[in-house]
Amino acid sequence: MAFELPALPYAQDALEPHITANTLSFHHGKHHNAYVTNLNNMLGDAAGSSEDDLIKVMKDSAGDASKAGIFNNSAQIWNHTFYWHSMKPNGGGAPTGDLATKIDATFGSLDKFKEEFKAACIGQFGSGWAWLVVEGGDLKIVKTLNADCPLVHGQTPLLTCDVWEHAYYLDFQNRRPDYAQTFLDSLVNWDFAAANLAKA
Ligand code: FE2
Repeated sequence: MAFELPALPYAQDALEPHITANTLSFHHGKHHNAYVTNLNNMLGDAAGSSEDDLIKVMKDSAGDASKAGIFNNSAQIWNHTFYWHSMKPNGGGAPTGDLATKIDATFGSLDKFKEEFKAACIGQFGSGWAWLVVEGGDLKIVKTLNADCPLVHGQTPLLTCDVWEHAYYLDFQNRRPDYAQTFLDSLVNWDFAAANLAKA
């Protein structure tokens, strides 16, 4: 079996008015799908179909210039699936429990975290991702370029925001700061981040 495009965890219009069905039809239906098609064309059916298979492909190709296409497409498949789950309808609000405690201890307050995360979204020059990760037991905000993924840097992602222009241009045009603020205020899925922290 080859890799398949994972379904969105909500309806295509579920994030409106913040992210429209039009954006998700292109972002999930065209961009995410193209990474799946590309990887299957490169590897055939033998590479597998599960998330574990996908992570193995990603890790085995990381840092190998001769396998850049395999890395870029496998990482983009994983990154996008993780991004869909990093958002939910009526998201935003505040984390609770252990995650809330760790955010306060690390960043000072939720508002300070949001400031730093938004700065990471804005400060990633060109295409890439902003992430909240755990590394060595500590929370960190990191940025990655293009398809790069914290999983190949010994970090455990808790949530991510896609800052490629294709993620926001139809809804926000060039206003990446507004998109990042909307992600934090109205879309972020703290339950997903907390579940990832519990597994870390
Ligand atoms: Fe994307």
